[in-house]
Amino acid sequence: MKHISAILFALALVVGLALPFTGPQPAQAQDDLRIVVIGKSVAPYWSNVETGVRAAAEALGLGEDQVIFFVPPREDVAAQIQAMETYIAQGVTGIAIAPSDPNALEPVMQRAADAGILVTTLDTPPVENSASLVYIGTDNYTAGRIAGEAMKQLLPDGGLVGIGRGSDTALNALQRTDGFLDAIEGSGIEALEPVNDREDAATALQLANSVISANPDLAGAFGVYAYNGPAWATAINEAGRAGDIKLVAFDATTDVINYVMGGVIHASIAQREYDMGYRSVEVIKAMAEMGVEAALEQFGAVNGVIDTGVDVVTAGNLADYEASLDEKGIPHEWSTEGWEVPADAFLFEMPEM
Ligand code: BGC
Repeated sequence: MKHISAILFALALVVGLALPFTGPQPAQAQDDLRIVVIGKSVAPYWSNVETGVRAAAEALGLGEDQVIFFVPPREDVAAQIQAMETYIAQGVTGIAIAPSDPNALEPVMQRAADAGILVTTLDTPPVENSASLVYIGTDNYTAGRIAGEAMKQLLPDGGLVGIGRGSDTALNALQRTDGFLDAIEGSGIEALEPVNDREDAATALQLANSVISANPDLAGAFGVYAYNGPAWATAINEAGRAGDIKLVAFDATTDVINYVMGGVIHASIAQREYDMGYRSVEVIKAMAEMGVEAALEQFGAVNGVIDTGVDVVTAGNLADYEASLDEKGIPHEWSTEGWEVPADAFLFEMPEM
């Protein structure tokens, strides 16, 4: 009998060792959880992500020191790599990162995964076959196409359009630009080469000013990142061309919405960055507690993606958009109170895509 149980024990050991390792097991105790979210720059957009991160931490009963949010001042791949190294050394539970350069970040993301850390991405996708277990964010190509469709509706006779963006490496910037260019193809709208400010709002404004002064016939502008819309809007105002240059932006930060109400930004593709932050914390916690597969299923990931969706915001539907945020309990500093929808407000028609 002794013999048999010894054999069974040895067998169990072998079988146990042969089972694939699918994430940290056993489930981690709540107090041991450490979740890190690494963004791309100090900007209002990332403050909204952080608000979502903090709201999730509170709702899930995680202490302040259990959820860490980090962003470099501007686009800074080296700083993101450094941050990853720091948190790998600390042995945190999980890291959600928005890779400013997915190729440059992948090796360190892989090292984190090898160390048993749950790695996910948010806001901007990783490389294909990444160590990232899931991408939580916008379908950027489609969102860029929607921006292009809005531009076509604003410029039915075509014209020259400038593009300002904050990265030549981050996939979200590249995919939005591709989607936009594909949408305007054959429409008579011609796009200038995108100008890159590397997530520096002051540089974005300078570049917008120079594009406008070098192209007196500029008919439209596309702001790819959250602060690009306001940068174009400021430059357009300074040039005395508000309303005349058609401006399509991204996101619904306070300054973007104020320019929508002021008639300088005609349409903005609002991402759901609060949700990106919130979900990133929620999903990593769930993965640590129930395993990767079960967590992905619970949160409805499809092919490694949790698509957070977008809203197209114009002066014509701003009040409805505000009501939808209020209904979901998503905080916003701006308000439409006392503002009247202008008679000529742009109404975007979503085409079949
Ligand atoms: C993008 C982020 C970027 C941010 C800058 C957003 O539109 O999704 O990747 O860092 O703009 O404010």
